This record gives sequence, structure tokens and C-alpha cells, in this order.
Amino acid sequence: MTVRVLSDATAAAREAAVHMAESARRAASENGRCTLVLAGGSTPRDAYQLLAGEALPWERIHLFWTDERSVPPGHPESNFRMVRRALLGRIPIPATNVHRIRGELPPEVAAEAYGTEIADFFGDAETRFDVVLLGLGTDGHTASLFPFDPLVQERTVAAGVSAPNLERGRRVSLTLRVINAASQVVFLVFGASKAAVVQKVVQGARDPLRLPAQGVAQAKVTWLLDRDAAGALR
Ligand code: 6PG
Repeated sequence: MTVRVLSDATAAAREAAVHMAESARRAASENGRCTLVLAGGSTPRDAYQLLAGEALPWERIHLFWTDERSVPPGHPESNFRMVRRALLGRIPIPATNVHRIRGELPPEVAAEAYGTEIADFFGDAETRFDVVLLGLGTDGHTASLFPFDPLVQERTVAAGVSAPNLERGRRVSLTLRVINAASQVVFLVFGASKAAVVQKVVQGARDPLRLPAQGVAQAKVTWLLDRDAAGALR
């Protein structure tokens, strides 16, 4: 695990964009293609805007999502919509390289379709994404893997559906099986409101069911934090 503390959110977003760009160049050069898995929420928006400014071989880069809400792609809560506005609308990426989770479908149907698309993409090779970008919720969730949700312990399918919840509905999420098979994982976390949970996840007792972000294989993780989010680290 690597923990990088940047001076502020802008510096952390810039570091995330540079990190993803460098990883993409390297993977595209070495393997002929690169797979980036994008987090939703609000934190990564600036990083995606900065990533759009990087000179990259977008024809060899494939974009996936860590999770999606059960909303159509044009809905204000759609993670795809956030990425389309911050990144997709600014880069020459072929539509066939954009592998969104179809939030407009019933979540079980969307999860199965996404799992099939991932399996078809990797074919006989192991499902190994080059970079997975993750955020962190104040309750320790990441992607749409929420505390005490059975989906946290799912190790068979690549993508599943979170348990019903009045506030957030049911969401489609990559499982830890696939996240942990990635070549590298980057957590991007800003703000004082996340300081306590960052400390628990990074330095606290290990309990992935209570803190799903701890279920991510820490050996492959780079934490990119601003000073506020790192404020409780000892
Ligand atoms: C989502 C994300 C989720 C997010 C955290 C942090 O769909 O919302 O995948 O896991 O990364 O909830 O959200 P913020 O970046 O908005 O704080």
C-alpha cells in the first residue's frame, strides 16, 4: 500500500489524472490496450476533466465503471453521465471502447449484462483490469459495496447488485473478486469529512464486511489523499 498526501484536492485530482495517464500509456504500449475502471460519485470529476487534457491513445483505451445507480444514463445521479460530461465529451474515444453499466435496465439484468460484457472482453484471459479508480464513502463503502451487504463477500460473479436500501436504491457494482484481480487500484479521497473513515480503513482493525474498502487488496493500492482526508492518519 502506498499513501500519498497532496496539498489540496486540486493537487490530488491532478496526481490521479497523471497516474491514470501514465498507467494507460504503459499498458497500451506493453499490451496493445489499456482498461481503466472509473469510480462514480463527485470526488473524481476534476481528475476526469484533467485526464481529458492528456495526450493518450484513446483508440487503445477501454473505459469501464466500478458501479452505477439504477437510473438512465442521462439522469443527474448517473455515474456514466458524470463521466460523459467530465471526460467522454472531450476525448476521441471510440464508442465501442466505452463499456457503461446499463442503469436503465432492472439491476439484475444490468449486472448480468455487464458481467457478460466483461467476460467477452477478456475472453479466455483472466479478467485483469489495468487500473481501478475507487472513491470512499464515510461509512467505508467503495464502489457500491456497502457495509454488511452480502455483495461484499461475493466472489463468483464479476458484477452484482447491492441489497435494497430506501435511500440509495439498488446499485450494480463490480465485486471484490474483480477489483482485487486488477493490476493496480487507486483510492482518491478528499475532504475532512472522510478523515475518520480513511484512518479506520488504512490503519484500523481489519473488518471488510463492516468497512468494505478494506476488502480491496491493499498491496495493490495507492491512496491519493488531500491533507484534510489524511488528517486523522497517525
Ligand atoms: C458512487 C461511487 C461511490 C463513491 C463514494 C464517494 O456511485 O457514488 O461509486 O462509491 O465513490 O460514495 O462518493 P463522493 O466522491 O461523492 O464522496
